[in-house]
Amino acid sequence: MLESSGAPQQKRGPLGSPNRDLLKLTYELRSPSDSPDWDAYHAIRRRVLFERRGRMGVYDAAHPDEQKPGNHPKVLALGREVLGVIRIDLAPPQAVFRRVAVREDRQRRGLGTILLGLAEQFALQHHCKELASHVDRDAVAFYTKCGFTVTGSAPLEASTVLMSKKIIG
Ligand SMILES: CC(C)(COP(=O)(O)OP(=O)(O)OC[C@H]1O[C@@H](n2cnc3c(N)ncnc32)[C@H](O)[C@@H]1OP(=O)(O)O)[C@@H](O)C(=O)NCCC(=O)NCCS
Repeated sequence: MLESSGAPQQKRGPLGSPNRDLLKLTYELRSPSDSPDWDAYHAIRRRVLFERRGRMGVYDAAHPDEQKPGNHPKVLALGREVLGVIRIDLAPPQAVFRRVAVREDRQRRGLGTILLGLAEQFALQHHCKELASHVDRDAVAFYTKCGFTVTGSAPLEASTVLMSKKIIG
């Protein structure tokens, strides 16, 4: 499990002073472990990556790629609440980030950046030196902000571009 400190929350201890333990919010990137996690994983993917792009009724939660050795479905969570998803396909020295999405009501609050940072740590721990992703054109600015550069040439009509980032050497 990988963790990242989150934004402080305004909570107070019993005597009115800030409770340091409650102030420490921790985001974690974990493998879905139970049915609420799996339901949230598929719901975010279906909604954000398919239905919001007009692709209704085609999302396949049982797609064989989800079970392939080396492919790691992950959720970004704060406690029980799932906020984002990614699948990290490991093929050292490269890791490919697939189907990155943040819940639609939580976008543009820094969660995608936390998600990619934790995914990068996961890839490093698994001896990867480079990250790659087939990035939707609308998300190129986000990946660029996270240190990726466009490395593939794609025809103008293609909906995605290949972006990558060296994480070692
Ligand atoms: C792309 C996505 C994962 C980013 O997650 P997020 O939590 O919204 O991103 P962050 O808040 O961490 O954004 C960090 C920076 O990236 C850039 N960015 C993020 N979304 C952007 C957008 N839609 N347009 C332009 N820049 C964007 C901004 O510079 C942003 O910083 P700012 O908010 O201070 O300006 C999320 O918006 C999402 O799920 N989008 C729909 C699905 C998608 O496109 N997934 C990627 C498939 S390849």
